[in-house]
Amino acid sequence: MKGASVAVVEVDQLGGVCLNRGCIPSKALIASAVQYSKMKEAESFGINLSDAPRYNWPGMLARKDKVVSTMVGGIGGLFKSHGVKHYNGYGRLDGTDKVVVVDENNMETAIGAKNIILATGSRAMNIPIFPVDGSRILTSDHLLQMESLPKSMLIVGAGVIGCEWAFMLSMLDVEVTMVEMLDHALPIEDEGSSKLIERELKKRKVKLYTKTKVESIVPGPDGVSAKLSNDKTVEANQVLMAVGRAFNTEDLGLEEAGIKLNKNGSIKTGADMRTNKKNVFAIGDVRGEILLAYTATHDGTVAVDNALGGKVKKNYLGVPSVIFTHPEVASVGMTEKQAAEKHEVAVGKFPLRALGKAHAENEISGEVKLIGDKKTDKLLGAHIVGAHATEIVHTAALAINRGLKVKELGSLTFGHPVISESIMEAAHDLHFESVHLGAKKKK
Ligand code: NAI
Repeated sequence: MKGASVAVVEVDQLGGVCLNRGCIPSKALIASAVQYSKMKEAESFGINLSDAPRYNWPGMLARKDKVVSTMVGGIGGLFKSHGVKHYNGYGRLDGTDKVVVVDENNMETAIGAKNIILATGSRAMNIPIFPVDGSRILTSDHLLQMESLPKSMLIVGAGVIGCEWAFMLSMLDVEVTMVEMLDHALPIEDEGSSKLIERELKKRKVKLYTKTKVESIVPGPDGVSAKLSNDKTVEANQVLMAVGRAFNTEDLGLEEAGIKLNKNGSIKTGADMRTNKKNVFAIGDVRGEILLAYTATHDGTVAVDNALGGKVKKNYLGVPSVIFTHPEVASVGMTEKQAAEKHEVAVGKFPLRALGKAHAENEISGEVKLIGDKKTDKLLGAHIVGAHATEIVHTAALAINRGLKVKELGSLTFGHPVISESIMEAAHDLHFESVHLGAKKKK
């Protein structure tokens, strides 16, 4: 589109982790699990089923595979339409202006390039004392291909992947136990969101041990027996390791090309996505800053503009976090704790149970919490737990990106009845003006 001649080297299917083993397949399966869970509520919606709903895991997997292959095919089509050349093979730098591609027949092709963008991503991190074997100890990659679901699962790590799978598996009637070494589930979210999601996990009978580590995992009669640092023992058919990601930087010829890495093994770049070599850029997870498909896309546009002579820097202001638990969790900007370190803060909240649309959808769990600067009224953070949180957060994200005041966000007349009214109501609450909440005294 910008006039450059472009080649993409990919050893696997097009689309990377997001499309093949991450965002898209997991969301397709979550949609199936939510559908099944909703069908169990049929009677409360006035629908009589002749039998209790039953799910069919291979059918869910087949649907997920169809969604993925449609999207992967779409990329191939886009490459053709934009004239992007696709090399299927493993790419390695040969200096800073050549990439050597080795295909499945071990044939080598050298591609010369004026600019090179490294976008090799990340993979599930392995804890050496608990080696992933694909049968007892798994990563989310294995779960996406599993022939049948186990009766019980131990999840190590209650971060994003751990929590999304905990909800999905428990909705599909798997007994789930989670172990998290930090204080809360979703520990980097606002503490209020973490506590709400912990309550929801409990409602789904997920056992969560926080401030706890797994000391040992040994084969047991029906799977594994795990000893925890709190002296408890958990028996489970399988273990999901969800303890973070490792960067794909090995065997890329980086050292030989003189490209510098960060201490955590990711590739070091500036805000312009350039590595220490002027014409070599890195984008996405492999940079180790934020591990999200959508920030990787933003990085990509910055790198391309700069490679073509621009002077652009990344701008992550107002980039939301979107987590597909049930209810969903989304946030943007600072947590209350982070904001309180630099500002005198004012907080507005609105529970979904006070919202007509939430009752109509039978989705009354959760709340919206807004954090503003008490003096300037600038919106500093928004934290949402509830139905459609991952969609409605973008109203607050735009407000933060554009530096709006809480008053300005709350001055918009939102549609009715919609879940995003809860953002307007929380904005009103921050100024003690929410007519749909009981009277509250100003402090
Ligand atoms: P994560 O960093 O979100 O969570 C890992 C969790 O494991 C942390 O809470 C950590 O304290 C805990 N942990 C680490 N070692 C442990 C141990 N030995 N015992 C107990 N707990 C331990 O990483 P996760 O969940 O693997 O996700 C990887 C990346 O993928 C993240 O950066 C995430 O943002 C991204 N992702 C994003 C999604 C989304 O945007 N919806 C969905 C899935 C992944």
